[in-house]
Amino acid sequence: MNVTESLLSELPSQSCALVAAARGVLKNAYAPYSRFRVGAALLFADGSMHVGANFENVSYGLSLCAETVAMASASAAGRLLEIVAIAVAAEGELEAAVIGEFIAPCGRCRQVLAEAAGICGHDIDVLLLSRDGQRVRMTTAKALLPLAFGG
Ligand code: THU
Repeated sequence: MNVTESLLSELPSQSCALVAAARGVLKNAYAPYSRFRVGAALLFADGSMHVGANFENVSYGLSLCAETVAMASASAAGRLLEIVAIAVAAEGELEAAVIGEFIAPCGRCRQVLAEAAGICGHDIDVLLLSRDGQRVRMTTAKALLPLAFGG
């Protein structure tokens, strides 16, 4: 898989701003059950941004991930085709031993991202923040889901 890592401080200012937007929306996550807050920020081609946060439910299985909330909301705003990048940040109680050092989109979110990349006609950059908030793992929507259903 095509993945690189960088210090957040070494990224271009627009990438830093996108990561900051993903961190900024963590406070709006509705995650009373997992106590694991996730924030996602989409970058549109014109430089504007659109955020989402995870949205849980007492039935657990109905919970929505931050990435999917952001993507669906961007679609509802008529801006799905304008997405060029997504940044994801997380904080909370799930242990590093379970989640790993970097947040990583779940399988359903990868499928959602892959479809968006397909209809956009270009891949979508994916920036994943480390737990300590210092480092960013960079990949793309298509790289995250090899052999995707639906291409
Ligand atoms: N979660 C996300 O928002 N994005 C992901 O890619 C992984 C998981 C949320 C779902 C749930 O609210 C919490 O994190 C714990 O799984």
